[in-house]
Amino acid sequence: MELISRKKLVLIGAFVLLLLIVSGCQAPPAEIQIKEVEVTVVVEPTAVPPEPTEAPEDQAEYHVAWESGPHSTYDQGHGPNDWCARCHSPQNWNPEATVGRPPNCVSCKFPGQEMTVGDGNVLIEEADWVAIPCASCHVMEDGYATEVAWLNPIAMEYQPVSTTTELCEKCHVTTTGNAFGSGVDHKITLGGSAHLNYGGFMGEEAPPTYCTDCHDPHTAEPKQCVDCHAEDIETAEHAKGAYGEMRDTVSCIACHDASGLDVGPHPAEDIDIWTTTLTEMGRSGPTTSAVISHSIVHEVACDRCHFEENLWELTVRTADGEIPAPPED
Ligand code: HEC
Ligand code: HEC
Ligand code: HEC
Ligand code: HEC
Ligand code: HEC
Ligand code: HEC
Ligand code: HEC
Repeated sequence: MELISRKKLVLIGAFVLLLLIVSGCQAPPAEIQIKEVEVTVVVEPTAVPPEPTEAPEDQAEYHVAWESGPHSTYDQGHGPNDWCARCHSPQNWNPEATVGRPPNCVSCKFPGQEMTVGDGNVLIEEADWVAIPCASCHVMEDGYATEVAWLNPIAMEYQPVSTTTELCEKCHVTTTGNAFGSGVDHKITLGGSAHLNYGGFMGEEAPPTYCTDCHDPHTAEPKQCVDCHAEDIETAEHAKGAYGEMRDTVSCIACHDASGLDVGPHPAEDIDIWTTTLTEMGRSGPTTSAVISHSIVHEVACDRCHFEENLWELTVRTADGEIPAPPED
């Protein structure tokens, strides 16, 4: 989705005015035009990341944050070779590297095993591993990070990005089905999320739309639902008045997921929370794991869990939460 930045809108507005002055055409249609432009400005979230405007101060805190996050790691289990480096350490990537026919362990280390690397792939030692440095996401000046941009690892040139999502999706993508049969499946789908429903939001504040509206780009830590919705969940009507009975057991996303995943108790025995789950068929039978959904819906159907003959012996309820009258005989 293309969004026009505020700066550009101001420019467009100024340009329209200039045109008017130059051409001396009549005011009414122009006013309408300008109004339309202004309406867009009000609804627009922060698409373009703010540029650090100050002269670069000490950026030590950003280094500390980045060190603590997932983009600074070297992990032998995460493919430290010249092929997988494409996203895990773009500056160590060899675009010529290929993956052999399956089964091919591009590079693997299982617990208790030696590291193995596939034919034709080079293992990169920890000392040579760059990970995802400031320079991958920022134009650097004298060692300081300035504006946000993507360093194309082949051309070694910066490409502008129009949103932080565009930046994150250089790597958080799905590439399965490619000719090498070696793709990854990492696209985060916000599709259909209530947070993208600009037609419907009532408040003053734009809902989170881009990755960094929730995730700190350096630690990668996200804001949790309650950080923004503390008041909404405490209303007497929330969840048809039954939220209080479920708040300690049922997570927000178990009710508000829009992606149609299964929901149920977390498969880890020591986690006593209901969440979104996925059951996959393996060689040794089905396994259920907890998965994170990024797709949020407003409308919640109570019978997603309280359906007839549910395994957990929850009270049977309709989608609206009513307890159906017992059948007459
Ligand atoms: C197209 C970019 C890309 C490529 C190529 C890539 N990865 Fe990843 N990888 C990611 C991203 C992004 C994450 C974190 C995403 C997440 O957890 O949802 C990740 C996470 C991982 C993880 C930890 C999470 C998990 O899914 O288990 C492992 C292990 C991993 N990658 C191994 C590899 C190996 C091995 C290769 C080479 C065969 C490889 N990756 C190639 C982007 C990539
Ligand atoms: C994965 C990409 C990525 C990496 C790696 C990264 N940053 Fe950033 N950084 C961003 C994004 C995106 C923003 C803008 C955040 C926003 O729009 O909310 C940002 C913002 C900043 C800002 C400006 C903050 C502000 O509020 O104006 C500074 C300073 C900064 N980063 C420094 C660094 C330093 C230093 C490093 C290396 C230790 C680094 N960044 C690594 C993506 C990255
Ligand atoms: C250069 C590629 C690249 C870019 C750009 C990038 N990431 Fe990542 N990200 C990765 C890889 C690779 C991993 C997995 C690292 C590992 O576990 O070894 C990861 C891990 C993560 C994780 C942790 C995943 C987990 O399973 O715990 C989050 C959250 C994340 N990234 C968010 C972001 C956000 C937000 C942005 C944009 C500001 C971004 N990333 C930009 C490659 C990238
Ligand atoms: C960064 C703050 C932020 C975070 C984090 C956040 N939200 Fe929101 N959310 C908003 C804003 C702002 C709106 C728009 C509110 C409005 O309609 O006025 C919104 C809208 C919604 C709506 C639709 C409400 C409506 O009136 O249409 C639902 C449902 C929702 N969020 C649930 C969630 C859930 C579940 C999570 C966690 C997965 C979450 N939100 C995380 C800020 C946030
Ligand atoms: C509404 C807030 C919100 C937005 C917007 C958001 N995230 Fe997340 N994200 C979260 C939360 C909350 C988690 C769960 C963290 C946890 O429980 O550990 C998460 C988890 C993740 C993970 C780990 C997933 C896994 O399966 O282990 C990745 C990777 C990630 N987000 C990337 C992204 C990217 C890329 C974007 C932009 C396309 C994005 N997120 C947008 C809130 C958000
Ligand atoms: C038991 C299911 C359930 C759980 C758990 C739940 N909600 Fe809701 N939530 C609902 C229902 C039902 C509605 C009303 C929507 C409708 O009309 O279907 C709602 C409405 C909302 C709204 C819109 C507020 C409004 O005024 O309409 C927000 C925002 C929201 N929930 C956030 C959250 C957050 C954040 C959490 C976790 C802290 C959460 N919910 C947990 C069922 C749930
Ligand atoms: C994601 C699954 C899920 C959804 C959706 C859900 N519930 Fe529940 N509900 C539960 C679980 C699990 C419990 C048991 C909570 C506990 O024991 O702590 C429960 C318990 C209850 C209780 C207390 C015990 C009882 O049955 O009287 C009420 C009332 C209730 N739910 C009403 C609702 C209503 C109304 C909705 C729709 C707004 C709803 N639930 C949606 C999972 C769900």
